[in-house]
Amino acid sequence: MNQQILEEACRGSALVVHCRWVDEIDSTQEELRRLAPAGPGMLVAAGTQTSGRGRRGRCWFSSAGGGLWFSLLFTPPRAAGEWPFMTALAALALREALRRETGLTCGLKWPNDLLLGGCKIAGILAETVAGSVALGVGVNLAQGREDFPEELRDLAVSARMASGRAPAPGVILRLFLEGFERRSERFGRDGAAVFREELLKASVLLGRMVRLSDGRHGRVVDLGPGGELILEAPPPAGHLLIASGEIESIEPPLRPR
Ligand code: BTN
Repeated sequence: MNQQILEEACRGSALVVHCRWVDEIDSTQEELRRLAPAGPGMLVAAGTQTSGRGRRGRCWFSSAGGGLWFSLLFTPPRAAGEWPFMTALAALALREALRRETGLTCGLKWPNDLLLGGCKIAGILAETVAGSVALGVGVNLAQGREDFPEELRDLAVSARMASGRAPAPGVILRLFLEGFERRSERFGRDGAAVFREELLKASVLLGRMVRLSDGRHGRVVDLGPGGELILEAPPPAGHLLIASGEIESIEPPLRPR
């Protein structure tokens, strides 16, 4: 990728006013924070990140030429209380982009991971920055197993490892922006509930037992009107609506042990 390819990928997107390519950066999320005063509509993509960040303070491995690493600053079309749902919309748009370009159908692990065979192919990080959302997207496209650090080798996968071919980052970005913009407009008009079917179809958690970091646990049976996880907990708790929280364990596991 380079500035020209990035501009072609962003052309026609109502969400992107300016885009900037950098060969190397600490983190595209941090760059967006620095550029935030310019207002929403900025997209930054990098060849490699030296301090790529994931959720829960984790590092995000982003090797040069290994994948697509970008952040977009935008203002969601609904009230701030509903902004967390943008993560799910981004995951759906990315899933569609990968399926259209590679034929691979990823599973969605609520709220922000895309998986193939239980291994992570992409992650999404949404943060509030200067009254807008900084949406960070990382997708493994071209790495081989040995390109990942040893501790990630059984946890991560790339499109090339799964399909035999590395898709062009610019194509994935263009398809993502198209799908994200379409869903974002629909979310603005109709709200989160209209995405229930699509989210349930993509979900790898449906029917599984999950335990959350706060100790609550139960079987995933549905999604709520705002995209929340609905767990069927052991009696007497009954149904639980989980709007946020971290999943500590999943049964049966997503990857064979
Ligand atoms: C996660 O799965 O925990 C979220 C990973 C998000 C990674 C992307 S890569 C581009 C952007 N810049 C970052 O530092 N993080 C996000």
